[in-house]
Amino acid sequence: MKKLLTIIGARPQIIKAAALSHTIREKFSSQIQEKILHTGQHYDNNMSQVFFDELDLPTPDYNLGVGSGSHGHQTAMMIEGIEKVLMTEHFDGIVLYGDTNSTLAGAVAASKLHIPIFHVEAGLRSYNMSMPEEVNRMVCDQLSSILFAPTQTAVNNLIKEGFETIHPTFKDGTTRKICLSGDVMYDNAQRFAKIAEQRCDITKRLKLEAKQFILATIHRPSNTDDSSKLALIFKALANIASQEKAQVIIPLHPRTAKLIDQEKAIFGNILSSPYFRIIPPVSFLEILMLEKNAKLVMTDSGGVQKEAFFFETPTVILREETEWVEIVEHGAGILAGADYCKIVDAYHKLANSTIKYPPLFGNGHAAETIIKSIIAHE
Ligand code: UD1
Ligand code: UDP
Repeated sequence: MKKLLTIIGARPQIIKAAALSHTIREKFSSQIQEKILHTGQHYDNNMSQVFFDELDLPTPDYNLGVGSGSHGHQTAMMIEGIEKVLMTEHFDGIVLYGDTNSTLAGAVAASKLHIPIFHVEAGLRSYNMSMPEEVNRMVCDQLSSILFAPTQTAVNNLIKEGFETIHPTFKDGTTRKICLSGDVMYDNAQRFAKIAEQRCDITKRLKLEAKQFILATIHRPSNTDDSSKLALIFKALANIASQEKAQVIIPLHPRTAKLIDQEKAIFGNILSSPYFRIIPPVSFLEILMLEKNAKLVMTDSGGVQKEAFFFETPTVILREETEWVEIVEHGAGILAGADYCKIVDAYHKLANSTIKYPPLFGNGHAAETIIKSIIAHE
């Protein structure tokens, strides 16, 4: 029996963890024991607990309650808390997801204690070093024993960085491995979209007609650290909405809500568009239904642009670059940054194109591939 510690902290990681957690409980409970550590990076009910309840995740064995703070402070508190846990209880490995400060903290704490790191969503790159996530994912990849790449692009990125030619040896005598696993979020979309169809009435509650509304999510620092950029995005959205007479549903991330609250003079007027429906962050089943039924998605989220692709909904990507380049290459997404004209142009281009959505993100069994590979790790 291998004992693993799954470390999560931010909304997308709690959701991603559901794929492995369910697969372990359903198929591998005699070979893997999983414990969960929540750093507490996200803590509002609608950014954390709602996902444990809805996705049937066990209550974390550890919750560090770290909360918000500067990068250094937040990461340091997490490293200290994770180290304590890893020093008091034996684990055969830790599972880390993605690229948040919780990922970075887990990687630093475990690597210094010589505990193998299994990194899910390895190899993604934006090649933009001003993104905190780029720093986190590059460090975590370097320290990981198995790098679970969701796409061939991610594998290629790792090869370009020498991961197949340079073989650092860990204390247990193993070297790093790359595994093209597919994307656990594709597993999750398949599993939970069916449940969402049965249980979730968000489109009815909001009185939305299928393919008649736009879904928008915005939270990246590149768009929310500068109020003039965020204002341009909202102005472009308001222009499109009034031309198309389409509602824009905006489940607002707390980071974005904070900026709007601080800059009421700038945003009060822009956000008064009768087409805008600003709502608190929604649950996973609810966002799946919104992504599936939207005419188009506008987002700077990594997870949301991909889920939109799974549901064959085109996406204006509110960033200068994306780690999910396949979406852009297949014409299902257009990079528009926070540029007013590019956003409006991208909307019209996508709304008037016929787009193909091939299965680019695995076969829906990424979690099983990952667990088998962890079990085989010696
Ligand atoms: C973090 C991740 C980002 C990920 C995002 C998912 C890092 C560096 N960034 O960004 O990669 O895409 O999560 O949503 O790890 N806040 C609340 N309530 C909460 C959580 C946050 O009000 O439950 C507010 C606080 O004001 C906080 C701000 O949001 O300062 C930012 O939170 P933080 O966790 O630092 O980063 P995110 O922007 O959420
Ligand atoms: N999500 C959600 N409710 C929302 C917005 C997003 O459940 O109101 C989900 C979304 O479906 C995706 C994940 O959160 O699975 C993405 O998280 P986020 O956009 O915060 O971060 P990113 O993916 O950019 O790191």
